[in-house]
Amino acid sequence: MLRWIVAVCALMLALPVQAEDGYDLWQRYRPVEAGYAIPATSIVSEGTTPPLIAAAQELERGLSGLSGKVIEVGTLRDNAVIIGTPSSSAAIALLNPDLTKAGEEGFIIRTTRLNDRPVTIIAANRDIGVLYGVFEYLKLIQTRQPLTSLNITDAPKVKLRVLNHWDNLDGSVERGYAGTTIWDWWKLPDVRHPRYTDYARANASVGINGTVLNNVNSNAVSLSPAYIAKTAALADTFRPYGIKVYLSARFSAPIEEGGLKTADPLDPQVRAWWKAKADEIYAAIPDFGGFLVKANSEGQPGPQDYKRSHADGANMLAEALKPHGGIVMWRAFVYSHEKPDDRHKQAYDEFKALDGQFADNVLVQVKNGAIDFQPREPFHPMFGAMPKTPLMMEFQITKEYLGFSTHLAYLGQYYEEALKADTFAGGKAGNTVAKVVEGAVDNHTLTGIAGVANIGMDRNWSGSDFDQANWYAFGRLAWNPQASSRAIADDWARMTFSNDPAFVAPVVDMMMTSRETVADYMTPLGLHHLMDTGHHYGPGPWVDNLERADWNPVYYHKADINGIGFDRMKTGSNAIAQYTPKAAKLWAEPKTMDERYLLWFHHVPWDYKVKSGRTLWDEVVVTYSKGASDVTTMRNRWASLKPYVDADRFEAVATNLMIQEREARWWRDASVAYFQSISKRPLPAGYSAPEKTLEYYRSLKFPYAPGN
Ligand code: GCU
Repeated sequence: MLRWIVAVCALMLALPVQAEDGYDLWQRYRPVEAGYAIPATSIVSEGTTPPLIAAAQELERGLSGLSGKVIEVGTLRDNAVIIGTPSSSAAIALLNPDLTKAGEEGFIIRTTRLNDRPVTIIAANRDIGVLYGVFEYLKLIQTRQPLTSLNITDAPKVKLRVLNHWDNLDGSVERGYAGTTIWDWWKLPDVRHPRYTDYARANASVGINGTVLNNVNSNAVSLSPAYIAKTAALADTFRPYGIKVYLSARFSAPIEEGGLKTADPLDPQVRAWWKAKADEIYAAIPDFGGFLVKANSEGQPGPQDYKRSHADGANMLAEALKPHGGIVMWRAFVYSHEKPDDRHKQAYDEFKALDGQFADNVLVQVKNGAIDFQPREPFHPMFGAMPKTPLMMEFQITKEYLGFSTHLAYLGQYYEEALKADTFAGGKAGNTVAKVVEGAVDNHTLTGIAGVANIGMDRNWSGSDFDQANWYAFGRLAWNPQASSRAIADDWARMTFSNDPAFVAPVVDMMMTSRETVADYMTPLGLHHLMDTGHHYGPGPWVDNLERADWNPVYYHKADINGIGFDRMKTGSNAIAQYTPKAAKLWAEPKTMDERYLLWFHHVPWDYKVKSGRTLWDEVVVTYSKGASDVTTMRNRWASLKPYVDADRFEAVATNLMIQEREARWWRDASVAYFQSISKRPLPAGYSAPEKTLEYYRSLKFPYAPGN
């Protein structure tokens, strides 16, 4: 009897666990349903390098999981999958596929014949391309594509596809809503958690090839010998997956770490210190990527402290890194303490004049918009305006201004909107932000896209199941900035949840409108920066008491009894002049422009008639209300999808949508109450008054909001 009980218990333990906690991300590799055939029978890989071993392991894991059979690496059989480069695989060399379009990191996937046997080959010029090809092949199965006659060539359009972790050495994450940092700095370099490998697998699966480990508001200790050793351990773990590590460098590190009296970039001792530091780092990490720098921004030290320019600062670091092949990502997120000018204009004003002055291993990293990752922003005017400088895009994956991890907002659609925007650089239509970033407009080969990570110790990595989609979409769009965010959402939903069309179609539709919904209930019609102080959680349109004018929401909405909006035309700050005339023209006329940007560029009377025929005041109220009620629609839609989702993840998403519905109403009510106290206008017919008084909304405090 006892033996029988033990046997049953052992069997139960061996059964696949049904509950899912999101840890597997889009790499779940659950068995496919009957009716979808996976022809693969074996894997042939002769490669012995770490990336090729990783590729074979991933393929074995994926194929075994998806087919429900053990698929081994070894014998050549009919329908084997052969992976490798011409130099690592005799079979690939023999088949001699055309790899000219695969480049350094791309791959081909082809069904063909070897010695009269049907086979599939995944081949590349370099080992890392093989790994990327394996992930692509697994994706075909995960999304149930036919495998019978494959002929795929793919290669990334952007060279550096980098996550920026705003992780602090004490374990906290600035603007992190998914728990503490995943870097266990204290136990590194000795303890190397399996999670680090899973992190690398997930990133490689979407082509991310770099990671900046520490916060841009950085600590010079990151550059100390002890922390270089810790960073080296992570670099070792990530290397097989093609991921380089980078560090945010504190500009004043020569003082704090080096004991020098100055960090002046033109001082010979300072320059020597950085050179020695670079040599020290490369001795430990031969493929170290380079430095990311936030300088002279929000209190960070920088070259301007010594009356030097951003170019002086960047070039000093570039010189130190150059002999080792490293690069500098110099951030353009600057707004000066002294200048009372429209914050929208400051980065452009400081950087435009420096075009052509940066060393050839420097990229200038520019946020998608000129203010700060708002739910909607027009593209940053620097894109297309600095032809001699490679501009790197910086997106925010973590949702600082879009409801943290409890609000559902699919940012793929946001990234695509920014990338598709036409800069009209050189007066030519079609020079989109994507093409500028790809280097295609100005012939740059050093190109990059960065995303501020939303990864933490939460079991599901991103704080919510749907926030995983933003990490995924970032990677896919970094690989190909012209990809469709809808197609990406479709892939993600299939891989993460279910391939059932009755699930996929409504979920993708919901994802595609979700960011618009957030913009509607937080910052409709081009309003921006209305979030409460510091933590940026919840509404604070009334805030007017912060030290700097441009930290206050009232600075951005400028509402009074007559109207609302920031006049960025000639009559106002004239920020519009930073765009090329053709781009500017799109926003110049309130009557014809896309009204989703109206109050970003124009100060408009409350009685102004918008395209719907309503007054602006009514439209503001209607849009806030629409945003709130669209969340209810999302919530109902998700409820109807219960049959397709495992219980735990279904409940987790449902709970978040409940929170989002409540908070969207809060946003609507608090904002309408506030703006009504200014506009003194009645609510449009049929719109009910805010639930509570303005005083109530103003009194809410969130001292322990995360990420602050
Ligand atoms: C935002 C964010 C800060 C961050 C800054 C930056 O202002 O709130 O936490 O440091 O962006 O990008 O440097």
